[in-house]
Amino acid sequence: MSQSVPKNFPVIAIDGPTASGKGTVASRVATALGWHFLDSGSIYRLVALQALREGVAFDDERSLVAIANALDVRFDGEEVVLAGDDVKDKLRHEEVGNGASRLAALPSVRTALLERQTGFRKAPGLVADGRDMGTVVFPDSFLKIFLTASVAARAERRYKQLIDKGLSANLESLVLDLKERDDRDTNRAIAPLKPSADAVLLDTTALSADDAVKFILDLARQRMR
Ligand code: DC
Repeated sequence: MSQSVPKNFPVIAIDGPTASGKGTVASRVATALGWHFLDSGSIYRLVALQALREGVAFDDERSLVAIANALDVRFDGEEVVLAGDDVKDKLRHEEVGNGASRLAALPSVRTALLERQTGFRKAPGLVADGRDMGTVVFPDSFLKIFLTASVAARAERRYKQLIDKGLSANLESLVLDLKERDDRDTNRAIAPLKPSADAVLLDTTALSADDAVKFILDLARQRMR
């Protein structure tokens, strides 16, 4: 993105495993502060969706990099417009999430997507959610949160989300799927899911989204004083 964007707009990085609630929490923190919001997982999901559309395999690094570089996407409020088509709901499908997790392990795909992410850093500030926001993409974030929750709590949340959307879901297979995805995101060689040394750990297993948002806002405001 533009070379002229100053690097010093404040960033809050919120990282954590899949279905930990970080998306909801991060977007609410951004709204409360009036800041921009980056759901970096959606960028990996967009590449996965486009790969499915083009019939590209999730381990075909060269074709995936080409897709990442050519991604014709516009974030418009709640809408995510891929080549003219609002794909917000499609991005949430399990097949797309699994593909995103697989292609996210490929170093050159991550590099190709780096600038798209740093381009979200604009005035007055940014709340960025993902796996490596605090460690790789925005290492100078003034506040880094690592959000976790037990696998059981995360699977229940995901189950409820899917059922609420009228989609079918199976709790047992969601647990297996989360474990598999955690394993892949945590053990990959590049930018693995791990708390940065200066991150604040927040376990939301027994915490409401309201409480998590309040905790983060309180910390952010303390540090901005
Ligand atoms: O947060 P999510 O479930 O939408 O992310 C989908 C996948 O994308 C996740 O399994 C791993 C990958 N991802 C990543 O590697 N780095 C990020 N910053 C965000 C997501």
